[in-house]
Amino acid sequence: MKKLVKYFDNQEFSNIIEELVTNETVQEMKKYRQHYETTCFDHCYMVSYYCYLICKKYNLDYVSATRAAMLHDLFLYDWRVRQPDRKGLHAFTHGKKACENASKLFDLSQKEKDMIITHMWPVTMKFPTSIEGFILTFVDKYCATSETFEVIKSKMFMKKAFRYAYVFFSLLLIRF
Ligand SMILES: [Fe+2]
Ligand SMILES: [Fe+2]
Repeated sequence: MKKLVKYFDNQEFSNIIEELVTNETVQEMKKYRQHYETTCFDHCYMVSYYCYLICKKYNLDYVSATRAAMLHDLFLYDWRVRQPDRKGLHAFTHGKKACENASKLFDLSQKEKDMIITHMWPVTMKFPTSIEGFILTFVDKYCATSETFEVIKSKMFMKKAFRYAYVFFSLLLIRF
C-alpha cells in the first residue's frame, strides 16, 4: 500500500501518542485500507497530528484530542466487506466499535470516549460533547477528503502523462 502520510517530527506529539502507536492492536490498523491508498493507521495518525496542532494553538485539551484522534477508527476490519456480526451500516456503528476496542486497551477519559463515539457527526445524530470533539469531526472529514483527492489527482496526472506519451510516440512513428 502506498504511504501518503508523512511521519511528523514533533517530540511532544510523539510522546503523547507513543503508548498508543506502539501497541500491537493499534499497529493492526496498518493492515486495513481506510480511504483509497491510505491505511487506517496513517489516516488516524494524520487526524491526530492536525488535532494536536489546532487544539494546542487554541489552548484546548490537546492531549485528549490527540489521543482520541489516534484511536477514532480502531474498528479493525475491512469496512468494504460485510461483517457477519455487525448490525447496521459501518458509518453509523464504527465510532462505538472503535471506542469499545480502545477502552479495552487503554485507560480513556469520558471525554476521549465521547470524542471517539461521536466523530462521525453529523452523519450520526449524537453531537460531540466538547469543542475538541467538534475539531476531531472536522479534521477527520478534511483528512478523508484530501486522502481521496490525492488519489484522484495522481490518476488524472497519469492520464495526462499517458496522453502526452501517446502523442509523442505517434509523432515519432510518423517521422520515421
Ligand atoms: Fe471514522
Ligand atoms: Fe476517520
